[in-house]
Amino acid sequence: MTFHEMWRDLAPLGRDTASGGYRRYAWTGADADCRAWFKQQADSRGLTYELDRNGNQWAWLGDPAAGDAVVTGSHLDSVPDGGAYDGPLGVVSSFAALDELRAREAVFSRPLAIVNFADEEGARFGLACVGSRLTAGQLTIEAAHRLTDGEGVTLPQAMEAAGYDPYGIGPDPERLARVGAFVELHVEQGRALDLTGDPVGIASAIWPHGRWRYDFRGEANHAGTTRIADRRDPMLTYAETVIAARREAELTGAVATFGKVSVEPNGVNAIPSLVRGWLDSRAADQETLDAVITGIEKAARAYADRHGVDLDVVRESFTPVVEFGHALRDELGAILRGEADRPVPVLGTGAGHDAGILSASIPTAMLFVRNPTGVSHSPAEFAAEDDCVAGVTALADVLEGLACR
Ligand code: GLV
Ligand code: MN
Ligand code: MN
Repeated sequence: MTFHEMWRDLAPLGRDTASGGYRRYAWTGADADCRAWFKQQADSRGLTYELDRNGNQWAWLGDPAAGDAVVTGSHLDSVPDGGAYDGPLGVVSSFAALDELRAREAVFSRPLAIVNFADEEGARFGLACVGSRLTAGQLTIEAAHRLTDGEGVTLPQAMEAAGYDPYGIGPDPERLARVGAFVELHVEQGRALDLTGDPVGIASAIWPHGRWRYDFRGEANHAGTTRIADRRDPMLTYAETVIAARREAELTGAVATFGKVSVEPNGVNAIPSLVRGWLDSRAADQETLDAVITGIEKAARAYADRHGVDLDVVRESFTPVVEFGHALRDELGAILRGEADRPVPVLGTGAGHDAGILSASIPTAMLFVRNPTGVSHSPAEFAAEDDCVAGVTALADVLEGLACR
């Protein structure tokens, strides 16, 4: 099956026809369809299919237990109304790269595996990279069991409903010990490659990033009869905090986004009792991230005091800076040595990835494929087919260089 055919088969799964975006949330029907697609790709190639204790899917060429495997892959879940490429490009390119290596009659000296990590985006339960975090021991079983979606469904309930055992989840050091190197191909989520004019790049680092929940509690009251002076309106404080986030981000050189909000009781003619906003913030270094987070919280507390609103801030997740190991990254650079010795660009990213989580346990690296607009986490996310094919060739070269020597 060609890259084009795989892409065509995956395209309708979990796609909202009105928005054109993807709603492939962990442990939903759309997710199950994507996972069935993955298994079918593994089976049709005669690969050994494994489902690990955390719901990550693996497709093996060679003996999984032999050790020192070269693993590639990414994720198939999406953010709300996500694009087609974030995650799936890495998975589809992995199968296509394996096909390419078979066409080259490559002889493998190490096992090779393709992986689909569960719940990378955290769109449903609020925490990103749940599958890889659990596997790497960066998320406790107890904390995972407490994860709850917007409808009050817990992760164990959702996993059980999808036919998985939520009580078997947890660290998987034996599985990680089989992996000698993990290389994740991903669509670029910025325009660096468009600016350099290269179809493919290599990741240098992932910015430190996290998610903070801001609970603004005021007093529900009548929108028509409550005097302005008597109001304790948490929506007002929330709005001021959104503006403060933008200002602090500009001042520090970080990014800060309130992209999700919930309001209680959410009535058009009532002052809210609770506004809950989620802040996502990232920066090139920890010091800058600390500065922006402190600045936003300080401003929010001042606004809250002024309006008689109570504020609780909870850090829901945090991922420290990831500097991909130079040995593997340089190896990729040597394998991909650009034409006429023009080096392949090496670039950092503000987006989080399973490769970043795993980098604390095993050697990891990433390849990026050009995104001409830089748009991501949106239905408008795009990569040209020629660039996707260049990505497959690059990934095949890397896998051949690592696994066939
Ligand atoms: C994942 O894509 C993230 O960076 O939020
Ligand atoms: Mn993403
Ligand atoms: Mn992704």
